[in-house]
Amino acid sequence: MDDTIKWVANNLARPATDTAATAFLGSQDLAAARRFHASFPEYAPTPLRSLERLAARLGIGGLYIKDEAHRFGLNAFKALGGSWAIARHLGRQLALAPGELSPGRLAAAAAAAGPLTFATATDGNHGRGVAWTARRLGCRAVVYLPKGAARHRVDAIRAEGAEAIVTPLNYDDAVRLAADDARRHGWTLVQDTAWEGYQDIPAWIMQGYGTMVAEALDQLRALGAPPPTHVFVQAGVGALAGAVQGYLANLLPDARPHTVVVEAAQADCLYRSALAGDGRPRSVGGDLDTVMAGLACGEPNPLGWNILRSHSETFASCPDWVAALGMRLLGAPLAGDPRIISGESGAVTAGLLLALVRDGSLGGLRRHLGLGAGSRILLFSTEGDTDPDSYRRIVWDGQLASPLARLEA
Ligand SMILES: Cc1ncc(COP(=O)(O)O)c(C=O)c1O
Repeated sequence: MDDTIKWVANNLARPATDTAATAFLGSQDLAAARRFHASFPEYAPTPLRSLERLAARLGIGGLYIKDEAHRFGLNAFKALGGSWAIARHLGRQLALAPGELSPGRLAAAAAAAGPLTFATATDGNHGRGVAWTARRLGCRAVVYLPKGAARHRVDAIRAEGAEAIVTPLNYDDAVRLAADDARRHGWTLVQDTAWEGYQDIPAWIMQGYGTMVAEALDQLRALGAPPPTHVFVQAGVGALAGAVQGYLANLLPDARPHTVVVEAAQADCLYRSALAGDGRPRSVGGDLDTVMAGLACGEPNPLGWNILRSHSETFASCPDWVAALGMRLLGAPLAGDPRIISGESGAVTAGLLLALVRDGSLGGLRRHLGLGAGSRILLFSTEGDTDPDSYRRIVWDGQLASPLARLEA
């Protein structure tokens, strides 16, 4: 198995914001989504951690990590998207403007409308968010998971009262099954990827992720720190990365950070799309067998890809050890830095950052990024230990050891 980190400079990235691609991530949508999220009693902004000692050790000016394990008590950022998409969908049926949506109002309307069912396919986190929202609105959720889904993730979905079906399929085929079943039963599909004729709900999901970006920029301001110079963001289908990139391009058009899109090597469809260099998306098939379950998606979300291809400067493809390295780095911080419990899909960007500094063969990427004392890097730890068994195998038992010590010797 190839254990090298691969990267490509995106030759299609342009300094100016492609407003046609990012139009659905506008400031009014962002404000409405934030207001809606804040109206849940479980809402609080997730912490933005500053890792000063690690930043100094890495030779950069600042390292900030948004800790999404604290989101709504759900251990991952994902409910931001599913909840806002469900709200917008119901709001459209009720002729309510985005700014008028609140959980109380929607629950009353859903009760009057009769039994409603939302369906989705998920590695776990998105399905838990959909199930959580459906339960709060008094609706039903049916959640399809790919083969090999971790027991804890399935249990967490069932604990929200949803029906969870573990399929013998990979993620992308589970999406097709969920879409077919939803059509047959008259359910509403709440999927975080898009295709021809299915764009509104995925666009609303991406809008919902904006709350996390806006909180991070507010929190940096409150710390007296300027906006980041670099953002590393992990990707499965690329809805999260597209939303982060799109909002950054809209909110910071004159000071857009350099963005690095980070994928699991076994499911690196966006990296391959950037490598092809012609602007067209590429897919990866097969088992997509990676410990980064949230990133195990082989087909790009076209709305996300549309944004990433014209803005994101760099795409990286990381073997599983990079995620494991990031989990250990954040779980066992330098003295004085805060500890972050970060799961496989949450920690890969931190692992990449450490590898960048220590792995001599990544000198070209270091120079391309221009990392130095003036760099302020923002990362998103998008999940906590959503599979605690795997977390302990990696962090306690040393599964997926990093080759860095061998490379440095
Ligand atoms: C924890 C975590 N991080 C990142 C992602 C990637 O999001 P996307 O599929 O939109 O690229 C996911 C997706 O499920 C996830 O669960």
